Amino acid sequence: MTDPENVAGPESATGAGAENAAETANTADPTKRPKIRIIAKPAVTPDAPADSMWELIGGRDTFEKLVREFYVGVATDEVLLPMYPEQPNLEGAIQRLTGFLEQYWGGPNTYSQERGHPRLRQRHMPFKVNPDARDRWLHHMRNALDTLELPPLYDAEIWAYLDRAAHAMVNTFED
Ligand code: HEM
Repeated sequence: MTDPENVAGPESATGAGAENAAETANTADPTKRPKIRIIAKPAVTPDAPADSMWELIGGRDTFEKLVREFYVGVATDEVLLPMYPEQPNLEGAIQRLTGFLEQYWGGPNTYSQERGHPRLRQRHMPFKVNPDARDRWLHHMRNALDTLELPPLYDAEIWAYLDRAAHAMVNTFED
């Protein structure tokens, strides 16, 4: 099963926390201190690496455009819109989805700094994500992605992820 939350951010954050914990732990004998290995994960450094998808397609502006276009569609959707707790105000949802996607594609990890581990399936449990909702979500996302007019290979890669992630988010088959 695809894991839409396969983002490196929270692990990196945990690494930093663990390092501090090691310093303050009750370990007078340095040889007994737990070994902390910090593994660099460039995808989540604040300065995104030059070859991340995030950078390749235009960084924050592009992801925000994608998500704003997506929510223009959601705002017209009689099934999806009522699910959003803050609707008709969708600004918070726009910021959260933008931040998540930026992070996933190698941009800054602000999302996890602010929201913690994505746990997307868990966070979607309060909502009825059945195949109809999924297909509507994907329909609006497809339209939004089209507006970016990305090079076909980038488009295909991003779309494959979104399609998989949306399928993984289904939590009921009831109407
Ligand atoms: C399959 C159909 C889906 C439906 C019906 C759906 C619906 C929702 C709803 C109602 C919310 C709460 C809005 C809010 O944040 O205020 C939400 C949050 C969110 N969704 Fe979805 N979603 C779907 C798929 C996805 C997918 C595929 C992704 C990622 C690729 C995603 C990412 C997110 C994120 C990051 C949040 C904010 C989580 C948080 O930090 O609280 N969603 N979604």
